[in-house]
Amino acid sequence: MTGAGARPFVIAVDGPSAAGKGTLARRLAAHYGFAFLETGLLYRAVGWRLLAGGQDPADPKAAVAAATQITMADLDDAALRREDVAQAASKVAAIPEVRRQLLGLQRDFAARPTLPDGRPAPGIVLDGRDIGTVVCPDADVKIFVTASVEERARRRYKELLERGENAIYSRVLQDMKDRDNRDSGRVVSPMVPAADALVIDSTALDADAAFAAAVELVDERRGRVD
Ligand code: CDP
Repeated sequence: MTGAGARPFVIAVDGPSAAGKGTLARRLAAHYGFAFLETGLLYRAVGWRLLAGGQDPADPKAAVAAATQITMADLDDAALRREDVAQAASKVAAIPEVRRQLLGLQRDFAARPTLPDGRPAPGIVLDGRDIGTVVCPDADVKIFVTASVEERARRRYKELLERGENAIYSRVLQDMKDRDNRDSGRVVSPMVPAADALVIDSTALDADAAFAAAVELVDERRGRVD
């Protein structure tokens, strides 16, 4: 068992937008009593800071200046969930110096994870795009959750309607394709499954089946380090 003082057990959950990685990551963290870090919020916080200040998210100088200001305390803002903030996030995320700034925050938290009440956690689940490849290449478990872009756009569209936002499916699909292209096509830390990741395609697999597959892998790895 990973005891107090031992290296935290790290689970990396990567994948494109609306593939179900957030749901899976959150559920895994609750199941094992681990901390949870949604790393996309860091990029969203940088994007939001720029939008709120009337600046261009694609401007590297402004984006790097904003990234140096970000702390974990910025991640609770409800505005971060907005679609325009998601688009801005994927623009700042393509800037190498922004990624470098945010890397330190992510690695520090992963090395000493804490639960929301401040207690140290025996492990951590991080979700993002490059956790298994760049942020925590030595993660104990790596999972890459994916689904077809049409299915992901359908899910996001439904989510937006449920939140009472105005949404048009064709627009949501196009935005999703644009973001996929930016995330997969960027030179630094492009979104790719780590070579040793378990790939879960959630197009035909429901959330419970995805969770069961992940738990089986985590239990097997935890057994091995016990
Ligand atoms: O919630 P959703 O999957 O739509 O997005 P997110 O995880 O909040 O990420 C927003 C944007 O941040 C992504 O489109 C990526 O461009 C960027 N991101 C990244 O580059 N690396 C990460 N580890 C996490 C997010």
